[in-house]
Amino acid sequence: MNASLTAPVALVTGGAGGMGVAIAAVLLDDGFRIALLDRRGAAAAAHSLATSDAAQILGVEADVTDEESVRTAIEQVASTWGRVDALVNNAGIEPQHTMENLERGTWQATLDVNLTGPALMIKHCIPLWRRQGGGRVVSIGSRVWLGGGSVAAYSASKAGLVGMTRAACRELGPLGVTANVVAPSFVRTPLNAEKGDAEFVEAYLRRFAEVSPLGRLVEPVDVANAVAFLLSDRARNITGETVHVAAGTQLAPFVQ
Ligand SMILES: NC(=O)c1ccc[n+]([C@@H]2O[C@H](COP(=O)([O-])OP(=O)(O)OC[C@H]3O[C@@H](n4cnc5c(N)ncnc54)[C@H](O)[C@@H]3O)[C@@H](O)[C@H]2O)c1
Repeated sequence: MNASLTAPVALVTGGAGGMGVAIAAVLLDDGFRIALLDRRGAAAAAHSLATSDAAQILGVEADVTDEESVRTAIEQVASTWGRVDALVNNAGIEPQHTMENLERGTWQATLDVNLTGPALMIKHCIPLWRRQGGGRVVSIGSRVWLGGGSVAAYSASKAGLVGMTRAACRELGPLGVTANVVAPSFVRTPLNAEKGDAEFVEAYLRRFAEVSPLGRLVEPVDVANAVAFLLSDRARNITGETVHVAAGTQLAPFVQ
């Protein structure tokens, strides 16, 4: 049978973003068929990654905060390829705020994308995993889940992701599903462009390299490699974990 018809299927949310494209590229190399889900630019991102075998990549426009949109997107992948072996919850936002000027809308929007979205994605993949006899979830957290270091709404959403993942690990283990978090530090992607001008972002990046015991920054491909490992058979007995891909900066004092 054509290998592309038997290849495992990975669904990557935020698939048009900096980390999403890097994750998809590594998973493609590992032999996955990839569905890139994003609220915008999914088709273009899929096109940019397309290899000679275009049947390996699907762009799906969907909003992870909208349950109907999530349900329809997963149905689209299932009707195209019949399965979802790996779910990568990668879509995320980080609106800037202080506690003092916090607006309820900012708080809610952050939790909706970063925490409710992954929960809805998992919920609607469960029927497929039940039928298939298992599956894998990796959600992209952040080193700030533990010590803060970002705005409060974002830090809370990423800490929540760890709690939700541990609960999912217990509930879905009997179905053969593993659930883990990959928690990166500051990575050069469009997400960080919002934090300030180019000079500010570069200075921030330099401070991260300085506090890293390894003296270097994390690249999107480092995050992608950790995701790929957790989705592989080599990681079949790893579940409920949070793996920092932070060049050791998860041990650093507050970086600002
Ligand atoms: N860049 C970093 O320094 C860093 C560090 C730690 C964790 N992360 C996490 O990595 C993940 C990817 O971030 P990135 O750096 O690639 O950012 P990015 O802005 O490049 O990509 C995020 C993607 O998510 C998509 N998205 C946002 N809301 C969505 C929604 N409601 N439905 C569907 N898609 C939606 C965006 O359109 C975008 O393509 C995020 O979860 C982020 O919190 C990033």
